[in-house]
Amino acid sequence: AAVRKYQFDIRVKNVSRLCHAKPIVTVNGRFPGPTIYAREGDRVLVKLTNYAKYNISIHWHGLKQFRNGWADGPAYITQCPIKTGHSYTYDFNVTGQRGTLWWHAHILWLRATVYGAIVIMPKEGTMFPFPKPHKETEIILGEWWNSDVETLVNRANKMGLPPPTSDAHTINGKPGSLFPCSLKHTFSMEVEAGKTYLLRIINAALNDELFFTIAGHNMTVVEIDAVYTKPFTTRVILIAPGQTTNVLIKADQPPSRYFMAARPFMDAPVPVDNKTVTAILHYKDIPKTVIPSMPKLPAPNNTNVAMSYNKRLKSLNTPQFPVKVPLKVDRHLFYTIGLGANPCSSCQNGTQLTASLNNITFVMPKVGLLQAHYFNIKGVFKTDFPDQPPVPFNYTGAPLTSNLGTSLGTRLSKVAFNSTVELVLQDTNLLTVESHPFHLHGFNFFVVGSGIGNFNPSKDPARFNLVDPPERNTVGVPTGGWTAIRFRADNPGVWFMHCHLELHTMWGLKMAFVVENGKSPEESIIPPPMDLPPC
Ligand code: C2O
Repeated sequence: AAVRKYQFDIRVKNVSRLCHAKPIVTVNGRFPGPTIYAREGDRVLVKLTNYAKYNISIHWHGLKQFRNGWADGPAYITQCPIKTGHSYTYDFNVTGQRGTLWWHAHILWLRATVYGAIVIMPKEGTMFPFPKPHKETEIILGEWWNSDVETLVNRANKMGLPPPTSDAHTINGKPGSLFPCSLKHTFSMEVEAGKTYLLRIINAALNDELFFTIAGHNMTVVEIDAVYTKPFTTRVILIAPGQTTNVLIKADQPPSRYFMAARPFMDAPVPVDNKTVTAILHYKDIPKTVIPSMPKLPAPNNTNVAMSYNKRLKSLNTPQFPVKVPLKVDRHLFYTIGLGANPCSSCQNGTQLTASLNNITFVMPKVGLLQAHYFNIKGVFKTDFPDQPPVPFNYTGAPLTSNLGTSLGTRLSKVAFNSTVELVLQDTNLLTVESHPFHLHGFNFFVVGSGIGNFNPSKDPARFNLVDPPERNTVGVPTGGWTAIRFRADNPGVWFMHCHLELHTMWGLKMAFVVENGKSPEESIIPPPMDLPPC
């Protein structure tokens, strides 16, 4: 195994898109940021030095960081932020994982511009469980705002309202030719007729699940969230913020130019965001003057396409890549996802939109939770997060106008080391029904079931897939529905779980698990690095 060293300098740079130039926070002046390459089994050292005016931290999304939460990155959860003028080295091993993941800033809304790909190659001498592609490309989907994002967010919070939606979606930082002034900001990928390519697709958007498609071409899905899947062919994929999807495409169409395109899947009543980002699949030797053909994307509210796509995702489940879904459950958790409103004295109209799990809006601490846990600092958090909602109700019935208020707290759930957990995430119609991509740090989980309406504990578990469920780190909870996941709590530490829509995270749709230290070294957190940023 090798040691791979990276230097990440956080620098502000002027970048222009849609004819609007603005200073953005970047890594090494690049947007999107540099790709981290590693091989399964390698050790990675990323020395981050902060030259920007914002405090920052970076999360290596999907890397399990076994016993090593110090390198996980979410600000005030596993570390305090790296202040301007300071450095911190993220030091981690890439064990038991290979495929596409990504990294992003994990503080404020800085991940709007601070993100990049992680490519983990299989161990030397190990093949992909699919035909070797001729070449590969990263396709990072994102969002662009013409104005400064932090300013927009602060202004919106003063009003108690959501900030405006982005001005464009992007592929590899480029909005594509359907947006004004964007001809030169269109990503283009050259292919040779007859060859096969691997696309490593990442959804780095802040607030949009996206449909992605390529005119005229099929995609074969082979991996999600760095876990191999049973290959299947599709015209369109659905990808939520936080998720990654590897697909194979064959350049088997008449040589020409074809658009790839992405647009939100958004079946929430408000706000509707219809913007389409394009990039070009360019067959070699075809002149740039050829107008690419446009693919058909599903309508933004096409829940059927979304649901049936997700149903097709299954783990590869071969002897080499077995599925280790827990069959016996030690702990059953049921969390309701609510959007609501709380009184707010500093807000213009006296209320602030809010979000909650089991009616609790998570309050960010001032000290890293992992430090508080490791050094036994009292008074930072409680471990009384309820396993069930306080008052059961008809979760997905008529919209509720009462009980929109939530209770505030830094409440965590304590889970015994190596126990098995089943968590049902239930969307509710408190303020509005909406789909929520949930991400769990520190673990992969198995998506054993999902459905529309209220979860029925006496019927639904009988239909769970315990044979080859998809294994991932981020999963969409369908609008007005539920998703059930299972995982083994085999990673000691404090692990964040949150909706990967930045708006909802900010509103409090988050909590954390404390997986308790055991007695043996395998069950304990490694000691914190010397340069861990102080609070
Ligand atoms: Cu990709 Cu906690 O986030």
